[in-house]
Amino acid sequence: MYAVPLGIDGAELRPLEPWHAEEFLHHIDRGREFIGQYIGLPDVVPDLESSRAHLQRYAEKAATDTGRIHGIWLHGTLVGGVLFRVMDVAQGTAEAGCWLEPSAAGKGLVTRASRVIIDWAVEERGIHRIEWLVSVGNEPSIAVARRLGMTKEGVLRELYAYRGKRHDIEVWSVLAPEWRKHRAADPREEATG
Ligand SMILES: CC(C)(COP(=O)(O)OP(=O)(O)OC[C@H]1O[C@@H](n2cnc3c(N)ncnc32)[C@H](O)[C@@H]1OP(=O)(O)O)[C@@H](O)C(=O)NCCC(=O)NCCS
Repeated sequence: MYAVPLGIDGAELRPLEPWHAEEFLHHIDRGREFIGQYIGLPDVVPDLESSRAHLQRYAEKAATDTGRIHGIWLHGTLVGGVLFRVMDVAQGTAEAGCWLEPSAAGKGLVTRASRVIIDWAVEERGIHRIEWLVSVGNEPSIAVARRLGMTKEGVLRELYAYRGKRHDIEVWSVLAPEWRKHRAADPREEATG
């Protein structure tokens, strides 16, 4: 098992796999309300069976090279994660996403973890365009996109039906050359190792 240190004491990024189903469910239970403000992840993981099924779907995406999910552990507790919901290596595109339970927010964990997976996608997998889709009201996630050097491209109006309402979705992205420039320019990069 490998773990990537995130440059904050006790914080590590590791693959999140079907055998973590119980731990994943407990984590989602701790963050159900907070995580579910703008995304349906908690609704997809109501119990142990669905938790395992969700992680199994990502295991299959990894096996077919069409997505990845990684967990963020803080002092041995699973507190969040980052993912590529979809990845198209032939096209050179991927859509990244993230979540945290509330006790882990405000520490830079997701920004640091996102840098690790975007580095991997760009430098090891030749991905050219990383997308970030976010509800217009989700300021913390929009702030992550900004910290990652992404550019806002536009708004997909009323794209996402969630909890009885249709949400406008902002599309942010970073292209491989922009990512390399951002990596070279941002001094906080040093801390991520
Ligand atoms: C989106 C979400 C993951 C953002 O969490 P976050 O804690 O704000 O993001 P980070 O882990 O990158 O941390 C950034 C915060 O840590 C602070 N921070 C401290 N050290 C930092 C560092 N070295 N680098 C970056 N940020 C740092 C930042 O100032 C920021 O805090 P602020 O918002 O008070 O200014 C979180 O709000 C969440 O889980 N929301 C629910 C699920 C969701 O909506 N996911 C996104 C779907 S698009």
